[in-house]
Amino acid sequence: MHDAIREAGPGKAAENRPDPLAGTNLTDPSIIADPHPVYGALQAETPVVWNQQLHGWVVTGYEACRKAMLHPGMSVEKLDPFVRHSSAADRKNVETLGEVLGDWMVFKDPPTHTQLRRSLKDAFMPAEIRELQPRVRAIVDDLMTALPVGAPVDMVANFAFPLPAMVIGDLFGMPREELDTLKTWSDDLGKFVLASVDAEQDRIYLLAGEAARQMKARFQVLLDDHRANPRDDFTSRMIANSDGLTDDQIVHNLVLLLWAGHETTTNLIATSIHHLCRDPARFTALKDDPARVPGTVEESLRMDGPAQMLVRFAKEDLELEGHIIPKGEMVYVMLNTANRDPAMFDAPEAFDAAREVNKHLGFGRGIHMCLGAPLARLEGEQALHGLTECYASMRFAGPGTEWRQNLIIRGPRKLEVLLAG
Ligand code: HEM
Repeated sequence: MHDAIREAGPGKAAENRPDPLAGTNLTDPSIIADPHPVYGALQAETPVVWNQQLHGWVVTGYEACRKAMLHPGMSVEKLDPFVRHSSAADRKNVETLGEVLGDWMVFKDPPTHTQLRRSLKDAFMPAEIRELQPRVRAIVDDLMTALPVGAPVDMVANFAFPLPAMVIGDLFGMPREELDTLKTWSDDLGKFVLASVDAEQDRIYLLAGEAARQMKARFQVLLDDHRANPRDDFTSRMIANSDGLTDDQIVHNLVLLLWAGHETTTNLIATSIHHLCRDPARFTALKDDPARVPGTVEESLRMDGPAQMLVRFAKEDLELEGHIIPKGEMVYVMLNTANRDPAMFDAPEAFDAAREVNKHLGFGRGIHMCLGAPLARLEGEQALHGLTECYASMRFAGPGTEWRQNLIIRGPRKLEVLLAG
């Protein structure tokens, strides 16, 4: 976890607060690979606790998480400490990083958030997204032609990553041949935004700052090009709805969309494949009854959603489930733990694609609820329709799934499977 997060929190007084997780290293690889035992035990004890290691409040109960996301006293504007933290040597790149991220709608409170979100709402309406189904399916079919049958294949690198990258690139008018470069920039930016635990801090600042600079320059060109030659894509629609926004605000939110549009969805697709491989009968069940595909995607989102946690910042002293969170303190909203809360879900540890009520929090809640949820669902569903229609079976090859070493995002880093034709 970045030192800057600690810097944002309270001072010495906090050290005396009860901390049920004291002595547990939350960045230990074994906990990252299987976080639920630790956070689930905490949820059973108390849904809101102080934690010294994260230097913030850890919220695990479903109701407490929902309230935290809907609370008007919670802010998402929490970037300043990161930028102040940087050393003189990387200050220039980090300033660019601060400028780019500082305009992202996901890090903005109203009224700026409202204005930014309005510019994109039309394009992401569920009805609009449904129309993309044939285009998404064509990309799925294309990718499947290159997957070997009967030999191990890493489904992250060869399927779950390229699918959302191609979809989002096409939607915003990014040429396919630039997607690899975009992936490198996105990964570097992700190391900062997602507080990766597998790289050292100074290097993260340097790489992410450089990626932000390059992405900003590339997306300004994309914007200029779309202004000069409008077309029927999301970039042109955003420009058409961008009254009152500066060029920087548009460009910086294009960076957000291109990043958010593939990073998280890659994890959803790979996690859904992981859950199908855990029990081969699930794959057969989908072949026999494709109507179970949406339920399978929702259950993957519930049990191992890509957004493991969200971070909020108390704008004022506020009360959450009987706890006073003082002004200025960080709050970690543990979505995946909330999604296994027995108070909300029957048999929460069971993967049940036929679950009748599945009000999981995988896409968040409130004004920042994921704008891309209909697109992510479409991609996840088309991926599973494609795989179950095309192959007789799919099972783990080798030791199984390697999970990403990340506190905020959950998803397989590598997932080798054997496909049978
Ligand atoms: C399975 C895939 C995805 C998951 C799990 C996911 C999850 C989330 C979550 C939890 C939030 C709320 C963040 C907060 O409240 O702090 C969010 C916001 C957002 N997501 Fe997604 N997302 C996914 C895919 C996408 C896609 C495909 C796009 C766009 C192409 C996208 C664009 C956004 C944007 C723009 C926001 C900010 C919305 C706002 O602040 O109003 N996401 N996402």
